[in-house]
Amino acid sequence: MGILTNRRVLLGIGGSVAAYKGAEVVRLLKAAGARVRVVLTAGGARFITPLTLQALSGRPVHEDLLDPAAEAAMGHIELARWAELVLIAPASANLMGRLAAGLADDLLTTACLATAAPVMVAPAMNRHMWAAAATRANRHTLEQRGVILLGPDEGDQACGDSGPGRMVEPAELVATVARHFGGGPLAGLRVMVTAGPTREALDPVRYLSNRSSGRMGFAVAAAARRAGAEVVLVAGPVALATPPGVERVDTVSAADMLETVMSNLAGCDIFVAAAAVADYRPAQRRPDKIKKDAAIMELALERTPDILATVAMVEEGPFIVGFAAETRDLERHARDKLERKGPDLVAANLVGDKQGFDSDYNALTVYWRGGSRDLGRATKGELADGLITLIAERMIEQG
Ligand code: PMT
Repeated sequence: MGILTNRRVLLGIGGSVAAYKGAEVVRLLKAAGARVRVVLTAGGARFITPLTLQALSGRPVHEDLLDPAAEAAMGHIELARWAELVLIAPASANLMGRLAAGLADDLLTTACLATAAPVMVAPAMNRHMWAAAATRANRHTLEQRGVILLGPDEGDQACGDSGPGRMVEPAELVATVARHFGGGPLAGLRVMVTAGPTREALDPVRYLSNRSSGRMGFAVAAAARRAGAEVVLVAGPVALATPPGVERVDTVSAADMLETVMSNLAGCDIFVAAAAVADYRPAQRRPDKIKKDAAIMELALERTPDILATVAMVEEGPFIVGFAAETRDLERHARDKLERKGPDLVAANLVGDKQGFDSDYNALTVYWRGGSRDLGRATKGELADGLITLIAERMIEQG
């Protein structure tokens, strides 16, 4: 039984390069147990064939508003009534405009007008088209009418531009659909995630820190939210947008992060320590800027508090996931951290000049007492989804 078992989803696919991802949306919806019927616009059919979508959905694809056979039984009304949810992915600027104008000039727009089901729209277009005043107005109109906009994401676009306009990834869309129906493996749980570096002040203008961008931790927070959890994200100093639906608390130093974590721990079911917390800090923070008088300067450093180990010592505390950032001997060091710091899982990554830190990609192997799982190399978003699935499985396993 999947989290969407027997849910009836009408998937509209518009005319955008991202239409090929519509096939993956169908596959994932089906894998989650949903019943899927696909409506392909004329534009969409230029990018992906009905045959592919038919094979994946297991049903004929609907394309024509004035199909005599279907319309003998008022096909567009039947489709609109059948749907428990309409998901349009991708939605082009043109399709959003037609929906906002209330047009019924093809099967998809007509079904949207005729349905009582909620409508979710995942836009996909060039970033300038997304920023255009007309698109902004259409988006506003749709939202005012209760249409749920999903994304778009930011990133590289098929046209060579980079910016907002990419369709949200299929797995994220399906997780949102699952959440809409009250599903998700972490539904009802509270998750706290630490992310990013810490800064340990030397003087009023300088600090010790590291290359963590916060992307891995932010991806874990977003994945936990997609899985239905309430999420608190304790962030070090990073330049990232807060994932939708996530509560964020910004911190600076290790001491600051520890205090924030401990004051949010009550009621927390899962704690994920993805932050690259500084292990040492200057023993003294100088009140004034250090002058460059000496030819060689020595700094005395002291240990910072270990946040992960502190949380692991709390009685009846949450399920705990630590990270291990290593440059060699990944498994040995990860298993050592598992024993020394006391988490339930350790997600280990090799880090270096070109991997782990400050990249959209990573590779993770997760260790626990008596087992491990290689999540492979993928985007941090995909790895975060894999990690969340594994956390849910291990929690069930541990009872
Ligand atoms: O932020 P990105 O650019 O996306 O990069 C991702 C990442 C490489 C930072 C991330 O995947 C990662 O590995 N995070 C943990 C980095 C780290 O500090 O690893 P560590 O092996 O030094 O620490 C082990 C664990 O103890 C970690 O869970 C860490 O959060 C925790 N720790 C460490 C020191 C400390 N004082 N307190 C802690 O809680």
